[in-house]
Amino acid sequence: MPLLDRLSGEALKQYVDAADSIRLFPLWLGRGGEAPPEIEPFLWRWSEVQPLVLKSGEAVTPDRDVERRIMGLTPPGLERGSTHTLVANLQLLLPGETAPAHRHTPTALRWILTGTGAYTTVEGDKLWMEPGDLILTPSWTWHDHANVGNEPMIWLDGLDVPLVKFLKANFYEAFPEDQHPVTGVGESMAKYASGALRPAWEDQEVPYSPLWHYKWDRTYDALKNLAEVSSSPFDDVAMEYSDPATGGPVLRTMTCWIQLLRPGVQTRAHRHTSSKVYQVFRGEGYSVIDGQRFDWTEGDFFVVPSWAWHEHASSAETESVLFSIQDTPIMKSLALYREEPYTEHAGHQPVTSHFPAGKPA
Ligand SMILES: [Fe+2]
Ligand SMILES: [Fe+2]
Repeated sequence: MPLLDRLSGEALKQYVDAADSIRLFPLWLGRGGEAPPEIEPFLWRWSEVQPLVLKSGEAVTPDRDVERRIMGLTPPGLERGSTHTLVANLQLLLPGETAPAHRHTPTALRWILTGTGAYTTVEGDKLWMEPGDLILTPSWTWHDHANVGNEPMIWLDGLDVPLVKFLKANFYEAFPEDQHPVTGVGESMAKYASGALRPAWEDQEVPYSPLWHYKWDRTYDALKNLAEVSSSPFDDVAMEYSDPATGGPVLRTMTCWIQLLRPGVQTRAHRHTSSKVYQVFRGEGYSVIDGQRFDWTEGDFFVVPSWAWHEHASSAETESVLFSIQDTPIMKSLALYREEPYTEHAGHQPVTSHFPAGKPA
């Protein structure tokens, strides 16, 4: 006979109170705790985001107190962060400004959106930032930013902060000077950017890509070359930035993709346990996420939460290029990665609503 049938009313209450008083919880009573909030897919329009990011330049200046002038992309269902594991922030650095040197255990990457004339140093290696470049600042590497040009720079910062905080492994250290001494210019690129060749005398043992700078022109060339020969039904011409030493993802907790959607291509829907933040680098089109259609154009951002059905389409007139940050390496390393194709309706979800909510399908 189940315990509930034998223990009820006041006796059950006394039992539960006694357990509660020593922080012990009878989960068979259905008190297993509340489900985590559902993170909703969301889209941010560049036309709305950019003016507010630029305006933040009037409100605050990066210094030792406000180290970075950043604004976070946070979808409904979260108080902070962009997915349950990832953060995507927009950072503005004005001409003449520096963002002081520091290091932290959360890993960061920069996807450069607009402007020229600024650089990031990573462990003393000076990397000039241009739109379409990907720059890595792996866990516990010193980094700072400086804008020595004459236009505002905006880039997307991707970090694994929610995961690192959850794992109680968040550490931070300020560098004693504002900027880390520059010891080289583009050294990591000179050593590792050729991909297939690397310095013969080095045994790479760092837990991240030793190449910290992926230039846009090489990235785009690679996409165009791949488009000539192959594509994926779920992502069209998609490439993962890789660690030249291992061939694997560039970072242990995050990976980055660049994907070319050829004009008029509509991918098939699928879902997976990894979550993603996208930036529309070029083009226009739409994505359908859990039946909701998100129309996007150049510069927009959108989030695909874990296990949400999604498919992408580029307009018939133009190719589109999507950059994305994903937490796939975490899920794969923990044997929790799962992926499933959408098999009904020839692989395409019926569109039941348009973003923003309320707009009819
Ligand atoms: Fe940082
Ligand atoms: Fe996907």
